[in-house]
Parts: sequence; structure tokens; C-alpha cells
Amino acid sequence: MGVEIRVEGLTKTFGRQVIWQDVSLTLPAGEISVLLGPSGTGKSVFLKSLVGLLKPDRGNIWIGDRNLPYLSENELYETRKLFGVLFQDGALFGSMNLFDNIAFPLREHTRKTEAEIKRIVLEKMEMVGLIGAERKLPGEISGGMKKRAGLARALVLDPEILLVDEPDSGLDPVRTAYLNQLIVDLNAQIEATILIVTHDINTARTVPDNIGLLFRRELVMFGPREMLLSSEEPVVRQFLNARRQGPIGMSEEKDVSELEAEARMGADPGRLPPIPPQLLPSDGRIRRTQHPPGEWLRANGVQPPPGSFIDEMGRNWLEEWPRYVAQHGGAAMPAGAGPAQAPPPPPPAQGPDPHQPGPSQGGAPPAGGRY
Ligand SMILES: Nc1ncnc2c1ncn2[C@@H]1O[C@H](COP(=O)(O)OP(=O)(O)O)[C@@H](O)[C@H]1O
Ligand SMILES: [Mg+2]
Repeated sequence: MGVEIRVEGLTKTFGRQVIWQDVSLTLPAGEISVLLGPSGTGKSVFLKSLVGLLKPDRGNIWIGDRNLPYLSENELYETRKLFGVLFQDGALFGSMNLFDNIAFPLREHTRKTEAEIKRIVLEKMEMVGLIGAERKLPGEISGGMKKRAGLARALVLDPEILLVDEPDSGLDPVRTAYLNQLIVDLNAQIEATILIVTHDINTARTVPDNIGLLFRRELVMFGPREMLLSSEEPVVRQFLNARRQGPIGMSEEKDVSELEAEARMGADPGRLPPIPPQLLPSDGRIRRTQHPPGEWLRANGVQPPPGSFIDEMGRNWLEEWPRYVAQHGGAAMPAGAGPAQAPPPPPPAQGPDPHQPGPSQGGAPPAGGRY
């Protein structure tokens, strides 16, 4: 169920431009992590480094017991088979229909028969809700469908690791909500280690188990969602609050005089918004790697901002969780673990329909709200 990725002291430069330096983080096996950062901070470069398309200047990328930057071409080729990647634009071949696009990795990397390929492609197309669109060309479909087709293609080799670059860019908030739900549902199904790169705060606040933030050529912080979402670190706070006040400026970081001027004017960096409940799979079951809501906060003696873990229906998920686990299979929980983070499913069991915004949709803050 997924492979752990351990990044140690990773540095990437292009000529004299340092993109980021000394980045260390662990993507826990089977968990969903988000890497956030303003545009141009090197998120896509990081993702490409993880899959071996770009070579770091320094540092290690451990994938199991293999250190990616030091692998031979052959070993790298083998290791890449563990990955499914959704690039920012979907990277579909414009002249191929969706079926052939999605079948491409199977035809390229396996010796499967066309009958087997058809079975796998249709299975993945069903997972992402694209059945019936097999013959469509990329130019004939919407942005959301392209992302889902890219996701289906990323899934055909049954990846242990799924890397997703800006699944939410160019999508309206409703389609983003569907796609976010789809990623959570996929994680529950395939149990791959997932990294989502994005600058969408709402995605970061509701989808992942872990959040990291790239800023000023450094990984400012990386850890469990509750750690970042309760952090008083100015950059983290500004980013997750989506505010102008703070160290992040329009084009790049603000200089000291700007920050002093803000302080003189009493610019209020804003109170931390409540921590929303994390999205749950739409069929209501609990992901294997789901952490109970409040787990990190309790373990670290941190009080969440007022109103945290309350969903749109007014339910407090710190209280709701034990009941939810009892109803939906506590087997998913490690022994002794407290409640995990999650959104709803009301009393009647939900039919598994990954393309409906299931009860877990309630965990997402309403579009246009204070987020
Ligand atoms: N192949 C490349 N050669 C030179 N510079 C690059 C290359 N790829 C990306 N960059 C530079 O790296 C920086 C980070 O880019 P990118 O990773 O795309 O940012 P993000 O995805 O966070 O918006 C940018 O300044 C970009 O111009
Ligand atoms: Mg990018």
C-alpha cells in the first residue's frame, strides 16, 4: 500500500538560479500530502525531481531503498514504474482519443494483450467518471475532463505513488471540489502515496493528511495538516489565510521597510481560520491512513482555532468521530488511536458513487466564504 518517499537535503539550481535548497521531507506511505507555494517557487520542478525527470544538484530521494538521483538508467526506468503522474496541463496527446491516451503507458511499458488493455483502460475510465468518452479527442472535452483523463492515464500501471500537479488550476470551484473528492476516493481505493502540488488553499485545507509550504527557496514547514493549519508562523498563516498582510508580496517577498510600514499601520495578519474537517471518501468508509481529527493537536498540546472541525451541518467532528468509526468500520483505525479527521455521512449509509459529491463534501468550506 504505497511507498514512503524520503527527501533529504535536496537542492536544485538552474545555472545561477537557486530554485530551492536543502529540502527535507517524508511522504508517509499511503498518505495524501500537499505541497503549497506561490507561483514560481519551484513546485513543478520538485515534482519532476521526484520522478527523476530533473536531476537535483544535491541531496537524496529515497524511494524504498533506492536513492533516485544515483540510479542507473535501467534502475531509474524500473523505479519510474512505481509512479503515476498527472502533469499540470494533463499532457494528453492531442491527436489520440481518450482511450488511446489512457492506454498509452500500457502499450509502452507492458506486453499486455489488447483485450487486457481494454479491460484496464475501461476500469480506470470508470474510476474517474469518463465512461462513454473513449472516442473523444482532448480538444473536444472540458478542462475538468482532461484532468480526469490525465488521472486515469496516471493510474493504469497501478502506481504505488501518485504525483498530481495543480489538479485545481483552470477549474471552477465546483469542478475542483469534484476532483478533490475523486483524489480522496482514489486514495481510499488504491492506497497509493499521493503528493498534490498546488497553490489552492482550499484544496490544501481539506484534502491532505500532510501539508508543506515552499517559500523563498526553502521548504518553510512540512507536517501533519493540523500542525500547519494551527501554525502561527507568519508565512504559513498568510498563505493559508490568503491575506495581503505578511511576508509574501505581489511579485516576491516584501522587503524589511514594507514589513515595518505594515507593522506601523497596525496591519492585522488576521486570526487563524477554523480547521475544517478533512474530506472523507464519498462511500463513507475510512481511509487506511486516515488520522483521527484532533490527534496531532492533542499530542502536541495545541488548541485549535475556535470553530475547528465543525462541518456545514454544525456537527463537531471531534465528537462525531468515535460514532463515525463505530458505524463505518473501526478496523481502519490503528489500535489506541483517537478519532480521525473527517466529514459526514448521515445515518443512512451512502451508496458508493465516487462521482457524486458525497457526504464528505460537507467538509469543504463553502465557496466564496471567508476562506
Ligand atoms: N527546465 C528548466 N530550465 C530552467 N529553468 C527552469 C526550468 N524549469 C523551471 N525553471 C524555473 O524554475 C522556477 C520554478 O518553476 P516551477 O517549478 O514551474 O514553479 P511553480 O510550479 O511553483 O509555479 C521558475 O523560475 C522557472 O522559470
Ligand atoms: Mg507549476
